[in-house]
Amino acid sequence: MRRIGLIGFSGSGKSSLAAIASQNGFTTVDTDSLIEKQNPEVFELLENGREDEFRTLETSVISEVLKSDFDFAAFGGGVHFAHPVWKGIYKSSLKLVYLRSSFENLAGRFEERPLYRKLGLESYKRLFRSRVPLYEKAAAFVVDTDGRGLNEIWSEVFEIWNSLFR
Ligand code: S3P
Repeated sequence: MRRIGLIGFSGSGKSSLAAIASQNGFTTVDTDSLIEKQNPEVFELLENGREDEFRTLETSVISEVLKSDFDFAAFGGGVHFAHPVWKGIYKSSLKLVYLRSSFENLAGRFEERPLYRKLGLESYKRLFRSRVPLYEKAAAFVVDTDGRGLNEIWSEVFEIWNSLFR
């Protein structure tokens, strides 16, 4: 299987890039959309302090996605890469691309994010800092997004695809 997973914090452009990939003829999945399809109120769980329930559903969706065939997948920003469902996968049949952004660059995009609403700015910033090393560890490739438009970022992601699979 030739698969790329897009990872990174909320607002880094994972879903938008998956949409561009889809416009370019690739098969794509977006885990948040799948989660929402299964439970339309699911993001309220995060806002109401029921994160565990959200994570259980997220893990079950991801476990299915990881077994499926796709070209590009956008994963939610809180994905827990150390969970057993990931074991061995991203090292072999799935290459993870980390869309790296500074917190400052993302800050204007958080308003609608349920976890941001729950936590507030300072705790959300701490969450961001705690996740950066996890993204870096899981990623096979890092693409910087600060100050760049989506098309430019897509070009780099597409180059990675070509370097791996063409
Ligand atoms: C989350 C990020 C969201 C979504 C959910 C939880 C998080 O995805 O999965 O609200 O824990 O940071 P995006 O990264 O697409 O915003």
